[in-house]
Amino acid sequence: MTARARVLPPTPDNLALAAEALRRGELVGMPTETVYGLAGNVFDPVALARIFDVKDRPTFDPLIVHVALSQRARRCADLDRLGLVDSSALSEAARSRGDLLMDRFWPGPLTLVLPKKSDVPDLATSGLPSVGIRMPDHAIAQALIAQAGLPLAAPSANRFGRISPTNAQAVVEELGDRIDFVLDGGPCRVGVESTVLGLEPDGTLKLLRPGGVPAEEIERVCGLAPGSLQPASLADSKGRSAPSPGMLESHYAPAKPFIVLPSALDGLSDDELLELAPAGTALGILMQSGDAQAASERVSRLSGASCVVEVLSASGDLAEAARNLFAAMRRLDASAAESIFAEPCPNPSTGLGHAIADRLRRAGAKRKDLFSR
Ligand code: TXA
Ligand code: MG
Repeated sequence: MTARARVLPPTPDNLALAAEALRRGELVGMPTETVYGLAGNVFDPVALARIFDVKDRPTFDPLIVHVALSQRARRCADLDRLGLVDSSALSEAARSRGDLLMDRFWPGPLTLVLPKKSDVPDLATSGLPSVGIRMPDHAIAQALIAQAGLPLAAPSANRFGRISPTNAQAVVEELGDRIDFVLDGGPCRVGVESTVLGLEPDGTLKLLRPGGVPAEEIERVCGLAPGSLQPASLADSKGRSAPSPGMLESHYAPAKPFIVLPSALDGLSDDELLELAPAGTALGILMQSGDAQAASERVSRLSGASCVVEVLSASGDLAEAARNLFAAMRRLDASAAESIFAEPCPNPSTGLGHAIADRLRRAGAKRKDLFSR
């Protein structure tokens, strides 16, 4: 790959350059608090086609639109005025629920899926009658949207199916030969993508993708019973297509075999660990918490296999683990390890644990099960 993309510090000059490029229909690598996005003008079908092309993304996978709005303008009616949302398709109750969610969670990692206006090209939404919208909690993203004067369609800035980038260098690794520049906003604070939430015309909510805003917080704000907001299934029992087309089973995948362990390393017997790490092999280990050194020592004592260990959060803090997840997966993918074994998330149904468990499961989809447990 010959990287031509330049990583630009977010100076006023560079922001102006990027905003101008967006207005010309070009694409820009944009930092957000979740992951870096590949941004283009949502109202320009040529720019949208470029996004799909640059990412090798199938056109059945819809894009998220990024807006920057003042506190007073975060309402369904304002999104309607911007040419994005058909608020007349929402009931009164749905509109006030949408307004409440925007008021509480924007800017932030919550994407709301709302009835779309015909101004939004079908390419952006893959022909769906709805459009996903969020306001990123990132000063550079907001400045870029404001200066371009455009809502920006921006999927994560990785090639389709691969690990989302959480720093500017990772965007260059993914798309460096295909785009001109990336605005450098430093490492992403959240580290996993936004929660995608569908708002139905009657006000019902559907959790379409777990992400940076925990489902519990949405339930609390909307006065829903704890646990009532469950992820929509990928395909319904009659085999009809998924409610959120991009929720493919295999995603976020490293190039190397990636296997989620049935338990943390501490829960594996010596025999089981030996099976993962026969002498003479090199393995990567993604630990949720604890001590990398102790893990490597155990492996080298057992078989002498070499191992590269990444720990998401030594203290087991979920926010820290989410922030480190994709960069750690990337480092293991680039290391000498032949395959990568990941500890399962210990809290798969609380807070950010939900999103972490989802990303691990899909990074490891279609890989063999271990120890036939
Ligand atoms: O945090 C994020 O959301 C990042 C940053 C860049 O903002 N973006 C992101 O975009 O993760 P992307 O393209 O990687 O994921 C978009 C996903 C789709 O795959 C789909 O699952 C869901 O959002 N989505 C978008 N529009 C939808 C719609 N109209 N209906 C259902 N799901 C939709
Ligand atoms: Mg993505």
